[in-house]
Amino acid sequence: MYVLGIETSCDETAAAVVEDGALVLSNIVSSQVDLHRKWGGIVPEIASRAHMENIMPVLNEALSVSGKGLHDMGAIAVTIGPGLIGALLVGVSAAKALAYSANIPLVGVNHIEGHMGAALLEASDISMPFVMLVVSGGHTHLYYVRGFRDYEKLGQTRDDAAGEAYDKVAKLMGLPYPGGPVIDRLAGEYGHAPANGGPKFPRAYLEAGSLDFSFSGLKTAVLNYVRGREMSDETVGLVCREFQDAAVEVLVKKSVRAVKNKNAGTLVVAGGVASNSALRSALLIASREDGFRLVIPRPEFCTDNAAMVAASGYRLFKMGATAGLDLNPQANLPMEKMKAGG
Ligand code: KG4
Ligand code: ZN
Repeated sequence: MYVLGIETSCDETAAAVVEDGALVLSNIVSSQVDLHRKWGGIVPEIASRAHMENIMPVLNEALSVSGKGLHDMGAIAVTIGPGLIGALLVGVSAAKALAYSANIPLVGVNHIEGHMGAALLEASDISMPFVMLVVSGGHTHLYYVRGFRDYEKLGQTRDDAAGEAYDKVAKLMGLPYPGGPVIDRLAGEYGHAPANGGPKFPRAYLEAGSLDFSFSGLKTAVLNYVRGREMSDETVGLVCREFQDAAVEVLVKKSVRAVKNKNAGTLVVAGGVASNSALRSALLIASREDGFRLVIPRPEFCTDNAAMVAASGYRLFKMGATAGLDLNPQANLPMEKMKAGG
């Protein structure tokens, strides 16, 4: 069965066709990064307008690259939240119009559930339950996933999301948006701290045993270090490296703790920050040391795309979670509140 996936929750207009929740026939992502870069972050109004311009060309391309027509689709899966409401509305309206005109079932997908679908594309044999770390521009959450629509939140950030911290730290050093990939690259180029030290930033573990996160103290520590200092390329690189070490260390330790607490055999990692090279290698080492299975999607499926939405949409369709034409997006849509019936 073919599923058409649609994703417009943030600054990517994306559509994809996926067969049986596993085989990606097309995966079209039109990024608005260039439009938002000069503002140093996403401007919601610009995002909505760009989605409106891009949605039909992106949908047409996804169908044409897949070699299938709209009438071949068994379901249309669309992200309904969380995200920017104006941006979400464009994708949901398009999905409803297509579903109505071609009489195809509609499936509403939570954006985080979508990111989870990327892991299913990577390893369709993952057995539930598993622990999932979601790290993106809007989320830093740990979930215990018993099955689709059966999610237990184990912890979450109390302030900034991990990706948000990357983007803000990059901005305060004058690096381009989005900051995550840039900091990742610069940190990698400065493998060793100089003999005379270099910056040291705090790791926020919070109360003993807590699975919550906090990145605002780390961000402030970077700000205090950078303020008034002459920033040579080397200093920028060292700040990137120490910031990344601090962020990754906490993400890895808390994820491992969650896996142990739940006695889970598998850790799934999802969201844009899951494409971070230091996080990937640290998690790989931890998975070998602690003996759990690690599933991280390939980088192109970590950042926002529609193939992941189609993959989750397929499973949701199979369990009967279809939606009516009264489907509406919601800017805030907690994972753990998703209903089994759609
Ligand atoms: O999942 P995503 O594409 O969109 C949201 O749902 O938020 O995640 C985007 C976030 C941005 O904050 C971006 O800076 C971050 O993911 N990101 C990275 C890397 N690639 C993207 N952060 C760290 N290292 C990377 N390689
Ligand atoms: Zn996302």
